[in-house]
Amino acid sequence: MARPRPLLALLCACVAALASAGAPNVAAGRKMVGVYELNKGGFSIKVTNWGATVTSVVLPDSKGNYADVVLGYDTIAGYVNDSTYFGALVGRVANRIANARFVLDGKVYHLFKNDGNNTLHGGHRGFSQVIWTVKEFVGGGDSPYITLYYHSFDGEQGFPGDLDVYVTYELASPYVLRVRMNATALDKATPVNLAQHTYWNLGGQGSGDILHDTVQLFASRYTPVDSGLIPTGVVAPVAGTPYDFLAPTPVGARIRQVSGGPGVYGYDMNYAVDGEPEALRKVAVVRDDASGRALELWANQPGVQFYTANLLPNITGKGGAVYHQYGALCLETQGFPDAVNHPNFPSQIVRPGQVYKHDMVFKFSF
Ligand SMILES: *[C@@H]1O[C@H](CO)[C@@H](O)[C@H](O)[C@H]1NC(C)=O
Ligand SMILES: *[C@@H]1O[C@H](CO)[C@@H](O)[C@H](O)[C@H]1NC(C)=O
Ligand SMILES: *[C@@H]1O[C@H](CO)[C@@H](O)[C@H](O)[C@H]1NC(C)=O
Ligand SMILES: *[C@@H]1O[C@H](CO)[C@@H](O)[C@H](O)[C@H]1NC(C)=O
Repeated sequence: MARPRPLLALLCACVAALASAGAPNVAAGRKMVGVYELNKGGFSIKVTNWGATVTSVVLPDSKGNYADVVLGYDTIAGYVNDSTYFGALVGRVANRIANARFVLDGKVYHLFKNDGNNTLHGGHRGFSQVIWTVKEFVGGGDSPYITLYYHSFDGEQGFPGDLDVYVTYELASPYVLRVRMNATALDKATPVNLAQHTYWNLGGQGSGDILHDTVQLFASRYTPVDSGLIPTGVVAPVAGTPYDFLAPTPVGARIRQVSGGPGVYGYDMNYAVDGEPEALRKVAVVRDDASGRALELWANQPGVQFYTANLLPNITGKGGAVYHQYGALCLETQGFPDAVNHPNFPSQIVRPGQVYKHDMVFKFSF
């Protein structure tokens, strides 16, 4: 179905009320939340303008059986209530900012603390928890695409300046998904770090854990963290550590050697992707031998956060599937975590008139 599905009036009212709580310029009830399907010869994805979220990616396996390979919910209400960032576009600054504070041009900015003393993924109502405007939508044809727009206001979640943000999801050629993001600072300098937070399970959402998936990360270095998952500032070689995925390696092979948050094992780590920081280059390859599905990710960002859903609670998702720990993996290309507080990390500051650009290309095979 290539037509937006209007939601129940009740849900719209609820969503509009949430939006207007933080953004007084959003006229209650004016913005509709819908689900939009892009389809190119059997390859299809669904996107909602709630959080610019990817809600489904349907792919065949090597035997021709189709499955939805991303975690999510059956209803928008599920995404409104979500705390895992399933499929969402996160910002204004993805990942953690230590102590919810930074200094820019001599001025101290205080943000929302939504991760202990830190800010995570833009605060408690970041870009993943707002209604985006659908600017363009072409559901079928040669290159189906949808462009979503969000205007982030000066002071939103504590961040400085008005910011125009766009994301386009496009099915570029058979089994290629392109994601293009840009953000323009209108009046003040601000950090910007967007990330696409899809949870992938190439065996099919809800099919079990991803510990047998083989992962290759084109990253010789990573940014070790302290116990609060804040980078120490060191950019260290992966060689000789369980973080080394330069050669294809099963996710589970060394997972019990790495801490993935309080009391759990798992990967939740930013890698410094090899190559020119702003060039579109190969970041990762994931293979699920059981289904034959594979994903190759290209991007133009300095880093990629590799997360193995260590903290995924037993959530009921699409079609009644229950998602457990390690039930998916995320490959969030982005700048380095807490870069605003680490002058040696690539800068995330966008000055008025400057444009932030983030491109991702997912190439699927089976
Ligand atoms: C909201 O999320 C919580 C925590 O994941 C979950 O327990 C609850 O069932 C969800 N409620 C709805 C209505 O989805
Ligand atoms: C937050 O900071 C306060 C003051 O420094 C400290 O006492 C507290 O333990 C910190 N909380 C966490 C969760 O780190
Ligand atoms: C940002 O993306 C939108 C949608 O593709 C495009 O119309 C706009 O020109 C882009 N802005 C910049 C400054 O590149
Ligand atoms: C989640 O489900 C698994 C498998 O059924 C179970 O072992 C585990 O205790 C559950 N965890 C929580 C937090 O309920």
